[in-house]
Amino acid sequence: MQSLQVDLGERSYPIYIGRGLLGQAQLFERHIAGRQIAIVTNDTVAPLYLEALCHTLAKYSITPIILPDGEAFKNWETLQLIFDALLAARHDRRTTVIALGGGVIGDMAGFASACYQRGVDFIQVPTTLLSQVDSSVGGKTGINHPLGKNMVGAFYQPKAVVIDTDSLRTLPSRELSAGLAEVIKYGLICDAPFLGWLESNVDALRALDDAALRHAIERSCAAKARVVGSDERESGLRAILNLGHTFGHAIETHMGYGVWLHGEAVAAGTAMALEMSRRLGWIAEAERNRALRLFIRAGLPIVPPVEMTPEHFLGHMAVDKKVLDGQLRLVLLRSVGDAVVTADYPAAVLQETLVANYQALFEQLRSQ
Ligand code: NAD
Ligand code: GLY
Repeated sequence: MQSLQVDLGERSYPIYIGRGLLGQAQLFERHIAGRQIAIVTNDTVAPLYLEALCHTLAKYSITPIILPDGEAFKNWETLQLIFDALLAARHDRRTTVIALGGGVIGDMAGFASACYQRGVDFIQVPTTLLSQVDSSVGGKTGINHPLGKNMVGAFYQPKAVVIDTDSLRTLPSRELSAGLAEVIKYGLICDAPFLGWLESNVDALRALDDAALRHAIERSCAAKARVVGSDERESGLRAILNLGHTFGHAIETHMGYGVWLHGEAVAAGTAMALEMSRRLGWIAEAERNRALRLFIRAGLPIVPPVEMTPEHFLGHMAVDKKVLDGQLRLVLLRSVGDAVVTADYPAAVLQETLVANYQALFEQLRSQ
């Protein structure tokens, strides 16, 4: 088992990464203060892993809370189901909530933990690649609003993150690819050598090679822990973790939550951020192409939805959380491994980026 630390003073916590961790009671016990726990999961993950986790934690009084599966359910109504179950089973302030599932479950269970009786402990047990490399670390929790993705939420750190890489064996390959979008992101924003490693190992990752997966997860979590440790509440640096997300969130909101997977929207959104960085003269065409080829090899889209016009994008992007005083700040690349957050770009370049021919680029790169 590997273990990393997110350094946030009294809110610091460990990230455990390894095989078979769902069965290791002592890993959980050291982070559970009371006798009651609630395991929040969904109707896809519950049949796979709930019984095993309940067995591991059999000495506690457990309330399983099984939510409907999907991004479309990351909303107030579903959040309320968590509070209903906690209150019905008389959970007190010493209870610990365990999020067992992907990013949707982690974000909702974390937000519920931040709110229930003004805050109870929670532990992240992420079971998708995306949640293992990104959403379970860093304490961003929340739900979607029909007008904007992740628009309602709280910064609230877990007590621990327990990553059992065995859980990836049951993950559909489309979901594994979606997770790779966030893995590639770390290479692009702050770890250029990791991008080279990914080029050599993307096939092993897609084939679920455990050593490759553990390396990718550890390197990704280490990058995220570094960034979050220096800017927990996103007053500056942390925004670089949102490379491709401003365009990507527009795609998710416009297409309807769950139609494009989050990682797919991030991949196409990152293609747009790369294209804009190239048009600004910051990265070379060869660097853009190198990154796009990696997305394609990871099984990810680099072409935004054809039905989305520049006006659609600009309308959704105007409610992005990086808008300050009416100015849209974007995460762009000065070079590979060096991201910046800036509102200092000509509007014409953004416009050109929105109408660029990504389909032609895809055809060209695919055939090379
Ligand atoms: P998800 O939670 O919807 O999970 C994807 C699918 O895989 C779901 O159908 C789920 O039930 C299923 N699943 C989960 N684990 C499984 C397993 N082991 N085997 C088989 N099926 C399994 O999606 P996701 O990609 O994990 O997370 C996306 C969400 O995370 C989005 O809502 C996004 O906004 C959020 N997110 C949050 C942060 C953050 O910092 N909080 C960062 C990135 C993304
Ligand atoms: N996923 C972006 C962040 O955690 O800041």
